[in-house]
Amino acid sequence: MSSQPFFRRVAVIGLGLIGGSLASAVRKHGLADEVVGFDTRPDELALAAELGIIDEAAETIEAAVRASDLVVLAVPVRATRSVLGEIRAALKDGAIVTDVGSTKSSFVADVEAVFGELPAWVIPGHPIAGSEKSGIRAARCDLFANHKVILTPADNADPSGLGRLQALWEGTGATVLTMSVGYHDEVLAATSHLPHLIAFSLVDTLAGEDENMDIFRYAAGGFRDFTRIAASDPVMWHDIFLSNRDAVLRVIDHFSEDLDQLRSAIAGGDGGTLLRVFSRAKAAREHFSKMLSGQAYVTNNSDKQVTFQMQPGGTVKGDIRVPGDKSMSHRSIMLGALAEGTTEVKGFLEGEDSLATLQAFRDMGVAIEGPDEGFVRIHGVGVKGLQAPRGPLYLGNSGTAMRLFAGLLAAQPFDSELTGDASLSKRPMRRVAEPLRAMGAVIDTGEGGRPPLKIRGGQALSGIHYEMPVASAQVKSCLLLAGLYAEGVTSVTEPAPTRDHTERMLEGFGYHVHRDGATASVTGGGNLTACEIDVPADISSAAFYLVAASIAEDSDLTLRHVGMNPTRVGVINVLTQMGADIEIMNDRVIGGEPVADLRVRSAQLHGIDIPEEQVPLAIDEFPALFIAAVCATGRTVLRGAEELRVKESDRIQVMADGLAALGVETTVTPDGIIIEGGQEIGGGTVESHGDHRISMSFAIASLRASGPIQINDCANVATSFPGFVDLALQTGIRIHAEGGH
Ligand code: S3P
Repeated sequence: MSSQPFFRRVAVIGLGLIGGSLASAVRKHGLADEVVGFDTRPDELALAAELGIIDEAAETIEAAVRASDLVVLAVPVRATRSVLGEIRAALKDGAIVTDVGSTKSSFVADVEAVFGELPAWVIPGHPIAGSEKSGIRAARCDLFANHKVILTPADNADPSGLGRLQALWEGTGATVLTMSVGYHDEVLAATSHLPHLIAFSLVDTLAGEDENMDIFRYAAGGFRDFTRIAASDPVMWHDIFLSNRDAVLRVIDHFSEDLDQLRSAIAGGDGGTLLRVFSRAKAAREHFSKMLSGQAYVTNNSDKQVTFQMQPGGTVKGDIRVPGDKSMSHRSIMLGALAEGTTEVKGFLEGEDSLATLQAFRDMGVAIEGPDEGFVRIHGVGVKGLQAPRGPLYLGNSGTAMRLFAGLLAAQPFDSELTGDASLSKRPMRRVAEPLRAMGAVIDTGEGGRPPLKIRGGQALSGIHYEMPVASAQVKSCLLLAGLYAEGVTSVTEPAPTRDHTERMLEGFGYHVHRDGATASVTGGGNLTACEIDVPADISSAAFYLVAASIAEDSDLTLRHVGMNPTRVGVINVLTQMGADIEIMNDRVIGGEPVADLRVRSAQLHGIDIPEEQVPLAIDEFPALFIAAVCATGRTVLRGAEELRVKESDRIQVMADGLAALGVETTVTPDGIIIEGGQEIGGGTVESHGDHRISMSFAIASLRASGPIQINDCANVATSFPGFVDLALQTGIRIHAEGGH
């Protein structure tokens, strides 16, 4: 990229709000040696010179263009063709021509009409930075700062000209995007043109009502906010609508259909539709920026860089409740959506994984209120009530969501596609695709049996018996969900006990799950009835604090309302066997799930051979347990845990690498790890590979470290444990998070 100035002489033709602001920004930031302006309105032109917006006011359009190496057309869209005709002969060799119009197909058509083609030196542009004000007096040199500018270069566009034009716009403070002409016009029709049309139309309709004085007198915030853009320049907008006719008509038709649907809902007293549309819209409005990046509203962390800076030492004290259980939160939304009636959930985990599930059901037409401090109200649509989503369902980092959805969606009448972030896109999906195919599902996986999953709807599923080769609650749950829709009985046998929340929660919704030893089965064709769910605190999140308070000196910590499902308590069993001091208090059963308060105090841990049957019961807690093993005396051996290699990261290797970076030696085996306890944990930098549980494990390792630890790539902690940093600080862990939003 050449250094500033990017052009010698810039001609701005048309000194309205946009042209004037660009001229002014180019001068202010020294983006060209000279800015010459031209406008057919002599007063505006004189004023531009007087206000110092341009260096020179050209007397004729040819004079403006003649020696310029960049010509910017900032004229009304419908004047483009005649202006191009006027400047044609005066254009200097090698000059770049661009524009700022709101519609790009019409600009290209005008260029082609005048030049017979779209020459390489013409690069259409559009700054998204208008305002309802117009004229040179409204021009501001900072109008484009923090705004977007779209360039729509053709494939043959002059690369040097494109680079310099882009640099010039960036020099005004704008972010430059490039896209095709057609895409630009579709996007703008929806995001800009339609809202202007509605604003003009609404104000005009109301102004025509008899009580218009009253309407305007009482017009409060909502009306004012909504109709601000109806004060925009009518001539400019009439140009835009006529120039972007086809794209605008398409989006008007779409909007009219949706408006009709709302009208019928109101007329027919159909509150469900209103609630569904409004709650979906509210969520969409609150998560604009996520939507813009094409992601689910709540699940795109990959572009955030969060680093944990840990200071060594500390004690862990207090009385805390960690956020809700992730597995149960996912299932509460899924079953609540499929139930008849309204399900209320307390203690829902507002982490990005379970929010991705929640959003996906909204995308399938389910009205869901909240979450609001863990409270969610789901207006169930019944087992057969889901609607086709408009696009792929993006499930972020969540393997649970993808595998459970696979079962559910395989049985729907519509097609669907499931996608995820970089980590999820590497995880094995054949384990669900294959047994589902045996039930009659039609599913395509991506390369190597990985996401995306493309699921063909409209298949009749039949029950099967499946002997699971891996102990996976996700596979079991996937098949049981598909089994709700299958003909006959679907039964799944697990090689070792895995979490049974799906079975318990189905029973809670009145759907019988037959259990016989290691086999769970459902008979298809039944219904679910809404219920109330109280999600306990997630034992997998509590695990970090169980280890933290065990390894840090003088610690005494109470964890409230922790889920104690026997298929989840492996971490307590293992830690207790290692000599941890964990007191289980107030054990009780809430909504079919055991819950207790846990008091943990410092203890001298000792290494053990971890019993293999505990592996599935502690599957998510091993990264934290490895830290406990390092702080223990003697050797800890883990075997039979190859599943750890296909979690959000390869948790055996990534933990071993992180420990090595802190000076701790371990021996990695294909299905586990051997850790000699008592080694010093030094300071250093650790890569979490975007795995939430790796980040949090090294955060607690700092309690016993001899120097500061930096942990990279920690944004995904928000997938399972929002508020981790605050809670860690509150209990005495010396953490500082950098980056993020
Ligand atoms: C989960 C099951 C486990 C676990 C995951 C959540 C679930 O995975 O690791 O975090 O909610 O069913 P697998 O069943 O694949 O072992």
